[in-house]
Amino acid sequence: MAVSPGEIGDRDRPCGAAMGEPTRSEATVNPAILVVFGATGDLMRRKLMPALYNLALDGLLPEGTVVVGVGRREQADEAFRGAMREAVARHSRRGLPDETLWQDLSRRLYYVRCAFTTAEGQRQLRERLEALDARHGTGGRRLFYLAVPPELFEPTIRALRESGQGDLRAHVAPDWRRIVVEKPFGSDLASACRLNDELSRTFRERHVFRIDHYLGKFTVQNLLVFRFANTLWEPVWNRSHIDHVQITVAEQIGVEDRGEYYEQTGALRDMVQNHLLQLLCLTAMEPPATLDADAIRDEKVKVLRAVQPIPTGAVAPAVVRGQYGPGQVDGEPVPGYRQEPEVAPDSTVETYVALKLAIENWRWAGVPFYLRTGKRLAKRVTQIVIEFQQPPSVLFRKLFPQSIQSNTLVIEVQPDEGISLEFNAKVPGTLTRIRTVEMDFNFDESFGSYSPEAYERLLLDALLGDATLFTRRDEVEAAWSIVDPIRQWFDRLPPPELYPAGTWGPAAADRLIAQDGRYWRNPKG
Ligand code: BG6
Repeated sequence: MAVSPGEIGDRDRPCGAAMGEPTRSEATVNPAILVVFGATGDLMRRKLMPALYNLALDGLLPEGTVVVGVGRREQADEAFRGAMREAVARHSRRGLPDETLWQDLSRRLYYVRCAFTTAEGQRQLRERLEALDARHGTGGRRLFYLAVPPELFEPTIRALRESGQGDLRAHVAPDWRRIVVEKPFGSDLASACRLNDELSRTFRERHVFRIDHYLGKFTVQNLLVFRFANTLWEPVWNRSHIDHVQITVAEQIGVEDRGEYYEQTGALRDMVQNHLLQLLCLTAMEPPATLDADAIRDEKVKVLRAVQPIPTGAVAPAVVRGQYGPGQVDGEPVPGYRQEPEVAPDSTVETYVALKLAIENWRWAGVPFYLRTGKRLAKRVTQIVIEFQQPPSVLFRKLFPQSIQSNTLVIEVQPDEGISLEFNAKVPGTLTRIRTVEMDFNFDESFGSYSPEAYERLLLDALLGDATLFTRRDEVEAAWSIVDPIRQWFDRLPPPELYPAGTWGPAAADRLIAQDGRYWRNPKG
């Protein structure tokens, strides 16, 4: 059966199918070699190998897929297999329940040590891959995966090109050569463009898969289904009915052991440029003409291009940044950001950002989008809140001089995946009293707890050649065009406001939204 890239949903289970029952059989694509650069690192251990194992467990990993880990450290295949087995046992959402399956998978797992940022190192790798092609029938098909530190992206791509392994000047004519690039994709517009140029000298754009793992979350994919597979929402999904939108990505964790990385990055680049802007796009985009990758990405790019530059330095600022100080999370004392390992004691890096964006298009003119994200906040939650306009309260105005609560839709992306709608109801009894009530939908309750990790979906899609859930060149550049001026403005400001760990962020963020007569919708509990 031919694989048709872009048909999202074709490998989702049909309504009513039993959990764990795959709808796509193994043998639907020609087998390839997945080549992971940086295979001794954290990402391989925590995410990629467990994802491969879970795909195999669900019968979704294309039959005959070979995995080659590449690193600079000396390691025999057997030692690598042992380390990967341990990684699956430790990090897979389903542990390692199936020894036979693991044995089968590990027979197709190899390790190659080489200097992969040099053409010579890549030539050695190519020889080994060609030998594996002969043994496993993988026919020169490759999915390269850059799980290396960002400063190694460009040299690795260049070395791939120079050793004839890209898809533009491939040494042999393969069915396909693809590449997955992890985040961060650049650190500003200029560096993202440079990286894109390097990629486009080596791979066709349709073979480049830029990761934003938020797009691999099924609740994020559900945004399109929710909006465009229902009649109810689209007629009211616009400036005539919506008062404003809030997008929150709140984390309880701090920077953990990533102090060094975070010092170079900060919340704006780490979270806003990618995850929050992707959520914004999916919430605000027009219905695409079809479900193929480019139709969807075209609509997302239009949203990004309609986002207005932030008025920096205005009287009522549209951006707030903060940094966590010491505090308490779940009753436990935790250090402040400046006390974290590898963080400068006088660091001015932001761990929190809130901003107000305007999307100047026909659908959204005049509807503010408030975005916020932070580490060490009170609760872990990712949610999109759609607040509708006040009803014309002609009937109830006398009884309720203060306005009644407007209808609100809360889409919780994680951790309690679901959607709730708040509306007003009469309190039972003889008096006319109105109270806001909730209609709740929860994924677990309706579908059982089947929650594949984002990386399972993303790896599978890359192997199948479906780029829908990956960002395109123009998309990533448009996102940086929004973020760059804010970043530059940050550099001219005094240090960010401190907020105690375990709270909802700096007071200035409350003022940012309160100046418009609105307030942040924090999750209950
Ligand atoms: C990553 C950021 O992209 O996303 C991390 O680099 C952040 O700083 C993580 O913690 C959040 O992802 P999730 O899936 O846990 O919400």
